[in-house]
This record gives sequence, structure tokens and C-alpha cells, in this order.
Amino acid sequence: MNILLTGGAGYIGSHTAIEFIEKGHSVVIVDNLVNSNHFAIKRIEEISRQKIPFYNIDVADIANLDKVFCKHKIDAVVHFAGLKAVGESVQIPVKYYRNNIDSTLGLLEIMEKHNVVNFIFSSSATVYGNNNDIPYNENMLAGNCSSPYAWTKFFIEQILKDVAVVNQNFSVVLLRYFNPVGAHPSGKTGENPNGIPNNLFPYISQVAIGKLSELKIFGNDYPTKDGTGVRDYIHVVDLAKGHVAALEYAEKHKGAEAINLGTGRGYSVLDIVKTFEKANNVKIPYQIVGRRAGDLSEYYADASKAVLLLNWKAEKTLEDMCRDTWRWQRQNPNGYDE
Ligand code: NAD
Ligand code: UD1
Repeated sequence: MNILLTGGAGYIGSHTAIEFIEKGHSVVIVDNLVNSNHFAIKRIEEISRQKIPFYNIDVADIANLDKVFCKHKIDAVVHFAGLKAVGESVQIPVKYYRNNIDSTLGLLEIMEKHNVVNFIFSSSATVYGNNNDIPYNENMLAGNCSSPYAWTKFFIEQILKDVAVVNQNFSVVLLRYFNPVGAHPSGKTGENPNGIPNNLFPYISQVAIGKLSELKIFGNDYPTKDGTGVRDYIHVVDLAKGHVAALEYAEKHKGAEAINLGTGRGYSVLDIVKTFEKANNVKIPYQIVGRRAGDLSEYYADASKAVLLLNWKAEKTLEDMCRDTWRWQRQNPNGYDE
């Protein structure tokens, strides 16, 4: 199949491109590089030993997007493109709604024009909101979202479900990612945050390499086994393989299906620190500070629907996640800024 990846230069898109190519598919990437770097495309090409058609355009720019669909016969779309910083979305909500929702609407119009009906969407566990019990399963009511970012995912899911009602040929899988971490085992691709990272894994690896002096652990008074926050961390290569499985499913089915991509297992912040230190033989100095506003105490996936429908489950261990994150960081201390 010829698969269009919007946002394919980003963290998850780049790893998914590699897995699709590995499975014998072709990919076309559209990305405006608002949160990524053209070196990521070079690295995908290096790993997969082939040239990738790449278009530096905004997905919401439908005139140029149409040209891409005219030039390439697209069989399916995986839609990663979007702004994703939760805190920033609270500060500049209109920009988040405009970017994430407009780009999806434009993409749907062009897909309809070209009769493309297979769609995979990057949703998030954040759509489960604040009031659901753990583990999160797909039958729970989504909503009660805690940020404009989260609402963009919620609204886009609804838009895609609405399209599936009227277009009987449309097939969409709403993949709800838990906490993607890690990097390609080659050390050539990984997460490349701008400035000081917000998320735990990139922060820890920058402490390990000496760019940041210590990790600040946000709270040790949560009702969890050691008081620190618990999350379902999933290796980005496992996550990428989940997209390959989701597309195989989408090809054979119609309608809209929400599916969690997680491991089904929660680890605490202290678990991560200890495992990162042990797996990589490094020291992570840390200090316990107050809770971060908006953080939940503990959540992880019920990962059984993905096993049932996609015949997919995460295979990599927490050690793999820590080792691969560190290899990427060590080999690329300044990310893609070669
Ligand atoms: P990323 O920022 O690395 O990748 C997103 C890519 O989309 C970037 O390369 C960016 O330049 C591009 N982009 C953004 N708006 C665009 C537009 N209008 N037109 C063209 N390109 C545009 O993020 P990621 O971590 O790879 O996440 C991919 C998707 O998965 C996002 O939709 C994100 O919200 C979702 N998601 C990510 C996580 C996570 O923890 N990383 C968790 C849940 C869901
Ligand atoms: C955050 C987003 C979520 C997004 C996910 C992507 C929020 C509220 N949620 O999730 O929508 O899908 O990133 O991976 O921003 N921690 C520290 N010190 C740090 C950084 C994090 O102690 O410097 C702790 C956090 O309190 C949390 C855990 O580590 O318990 C994981 O945090 P993080 O990696 O930021 O992810 P989430 O907050 O789960």
C-alpha cells in the first residue's frame, strides 16, 4: 500500500514510517516541520535505505495537499500532524483548535475527493479525562478533558465517527496512545524536544548526559505504591507496529473503532529512575518537589481490545525503553541538529 503520513517527520510518525517500510509498504510524508526537523527524514531514509517522497506543507493547506494526492495514488492515511504540548494548549487554545481541527477537516475533504477511505488517527489516553477508573477501557465514556489539547483529540474523534456514519466505505481506527517513550534501536531516530523537555523520559536522558542538573519529581504523596505518579509507558517501536496492525484491520473493516495502544502495566516515576540507572549504568540525581498542576495520580490501559481486534501487543520491556532512549541521547546529544 501507499500510505500518506501527515506529521511523519515527528517522533511517532518517523518510527511508524520505518515500520511500514519494513513491512513492504511505501510511504509519502507531509509535514510543515513546525515541531520537527528535515534531518528526521534523512534518518528514516538511512534506516530504510530508500528515498521518501517528502512535502514541506501544512496539512490545512488543501490546495497543496490536493497536489500530493494527485501526484501519488494514496491508499491510506495515518494522521499524526498536530500540536501536542498540553501546557501550551492552555495558553494558546485558539492556535491548537485551529491547527489540529482545521488540518483534519482539510485532510478529510481531500481524502473524500480522491476516494481514500482508510484512516488511522493519533488520539490519546487523555480523552479519558479526569473521572474514569483505571485501567481505562474503550467502552468508558470519554470527555471531561483537562486541556484544549485533549479536547482537540476528543472533537476529532467525534468528527471521524460522524464521517463513518455517512460514508459507509470509510474505515477509521482511533488509536489512543498511552505514554510513548524510547527510540529506534539503531539510535538514529528518537524524540527531539525543543528547549527544556516537559516529559519524563527526555528530561531524565538530559540529566543523564549532564545538560540538566537533576530531575524534579512532581510529588511523592500520590496514593500509589511509592507515592509518585504511575503511567503506562510504551516503546515507540511497539507503538509504530500497532499502526501497521491497525491499518491491516482498517482495510478489512468499515466504521470507526477506538483502540488503546498501551502495555496494560503502570510504572511509577521512581521505577523509571531506578530502571534507567540500572539499564544504562548512569546516575540520575533527583529532588522531590510539589505536584505538577493537572497531573493525575495513576493510569494505564486495558490493552485487551488491541489484542483481540489487531492481534497486536506491546513486547518491549521497560529496560528496552530506557536503553534505547539513552542510546539515542548519547549518539545525538543535540538531537537532529547535526
Ligand atoms: P511530534 O510533534 O513529534 O509530531 C507531530 C508532527 O506534526 C511534527 O513533525 C509537526 O511538525 C507536524 N505538524 C503539526 N501540525 C502540522 C500541520 N498543520 N501540518 C503539517 N504538519 C504538522 O509529535 P508526536 O509525539 O510524534 O505525536 C504525533 C501525534 O500523536 C500527535 O497528533 C500527538 O498529539 C499524538 N500523541 C502523541 C503522544 C506523545 O506522547 N508523543 C501521546 C498521545 C498522542
Ligand atoms: C503528558 C500529557 C499527556 C500526553 C503525554 C505524552 C499532561 C498533563 N499530560 O502525560 O496528555 O499524552 O504527556 O507522553 O501534560 N514527571 C516528573 N518530573 C518531570 C516530568 C514528569 O516527576 O520532570 C512525572 C509526572 O508527574 C508524571 C510522569 O512523570 O507522573 C509522566 O509525566 P510525562 O512524561 O510528562 O507524561 P504525562 O504527564 O503522563
